[in-house]
Amino acid sequence: MSSSLDAARPETAPALTPHFRPAIHFTARDTWLNDPNGLVFHNGLFHLFFQNNPFGSVWGNMSWGHATSPDLLQWTEHPVAIASDDTEDIFSGSVVVDHGNTSGFGTVESPALVAVYTSAFKAGTVHSGTQAQSLAYSTDGGMMWRKYEQNPVVTRNSEHFRDPKVFRYHSTEGSFWVMVAVEAQQQKVVLYRSEDLKSWEFLSDFGPANADAGEWECPDLFPLAVDGDPKNITWVLIVNVNPGAVAGGSGGQYFVGHFDGVRFVPDAGSLSAPAGLSSLPNTAARAEALQQSLWLDWGRDCYASVSFSDVPDNRRVIIGWMNNWDYANQLPTAPWRSSMTLARELRLGSFNGNTRLVQYPILGDQQEQLLHTGNIELGADALRLPDAAPRRAQVIEAEIVPGTSERIDLRLLASSDGRQGTVLSYAPGSGRLTLDRTQSGDTTFHGKFASAESAPVPLEDGVLMLLIVVDQCSVEVFAQGGKVALTDLVFPEAGSQENWLSSHGGNATVLKLAVSTPA
Ligand code: FRU
Repeated sequence: MSSSLDAARPETAPALTPHFRPAIHFTARDTWLNDPNGLVFHNGLFHLFFQNNPFGSVWGNMSWGHATSPDLLQWTEHPVAIASDDTEDIFSGSVVVDHGNTSGFGTVESPALVAVYTSAFKAGTVHSGTQAQSLAYSTDGGMMWRKYEQNPVVTRNSEHFRDPKVFRYHSTEGSFWVMVAVEAQQQKVVLYRSEDLKSWEFLSDFGPANADAGEWECPDLFPLAVDGDPKNITWVLIVNVNPGAVAGGSGGQYFVGHFDGVRFVPDAGSLSAPAGLSSLPNTAARAEALQQSLWLDWGRDCYASVSFSDVPDNRRVIIGWMNNWDYANQLPTAPWRSSMTLARELRLGSFNGNTRLVQYPILGDQQEQLLHTGNIELGADALRLPDAAPRRAQVIEAEIVPGTSERIDLRLLASSDGRQGTVLSYAPGSGRLTLDRTQSGDTTFHGKFASAESAPVPLEDGVLMLLIVVDQCSVEVFAQGGKVALTDLVFPEAGSQENWLSSHGGNATVLKLAVSTPA
């Protein structure tokens, strides 16, 4: 999709960076994007709406852009779905399929899609300066949208009330709509209930808790079966935080617990700081509790993750914005700026008595195998893997027993002179996995970009399991079957495409090493 669009552009724009255009991650054709919005599966298509500046490649004129995909890998961009106007910018929100026609916007036979979005009201309007929740609806499967005449539908006279995620709650007493949104600067998730999506009643709030150094944004709340057991349902509350995430700047945390139709109550085991990190006495205690909080991703570039509505078979699939507000407006790409993460399927597992999320990227069935080997003794000599290829993503899977090794390095997107590369390192001594992009290529466009992120990754039966997706300007790492994710952007020089595996200070055994490319 992207290469033919790039080929159609005139050659007179020297700053274009087609070599950074991802193969399987969504980017807007030639504009800015941030948060995924209104993720919904409908009539065989995944819809991705997104925060979009239709007129530029930095944040502004916030509107909902729109793309669809049959497989979550190849996306088709459509015209802007809901546009900013003189009265309001269209901030983040969600879309539901109104199957029962509770809103009256569609019919039961042909249900409307209803977008619940944040109106960021402009100066000089009735609600000037406030953020409130509004509706728009589509009766043609998501292409044309009409705003509800009686917007907004929920106000709190607040400047920071936003990012509504709506879902249908079912209990033995019946079903109703629930909205989770935020009072961003109070670090609170606020919950509301409605019968018809138009009139809303306050239920409860949650927070601050755990990471609370920045604004709370883009929440999500959903049930999942623990270890696949439908009789054992636990609720997950996602709360994105900016700044103050574990790797610095923007990031996504989550809580596990229970929701009874009124209130979310977290399990004690998911609270590292029940009244929020800022309530803790000193920096050391805060740093420790930040590490103990539950993170969707330990890297720098996975923010505003929320889930799709209506995916069949109760599957829970999220997409995040692959960026960080620390430097988002300065990324060195043109004419577009920013992309989404891969879609990731979430599951809940119980590990040592704790319920935790596990996530795996959705890569499709069509893979071209480039390497499949195993039982290799890895010593002083580095092992060369197939090179990354322009315009193709690469999936690297490895299972390694560290043995006597003091450090195992996977050097990705490296230049042949060894000057440049992104290094994923595992240190058995500390049990930490580190993604280091300090020498990854262009890091100078912002002072906060050069960084190394690390996460605790205990070996399992002595084995380190990695799945890594590399796509032109990003590295997404999933360790130990998806218990830990680490996502970072990188901007290597064209031609930096070598991949090397090495062991330092001792020998490791590579049980499995596979490299493939999604077709
Ligand atoms: C998160 C966010 C949201 C807001 C949107 C505005 O990245 O700040 O809270 O709705 O972006 O673009």
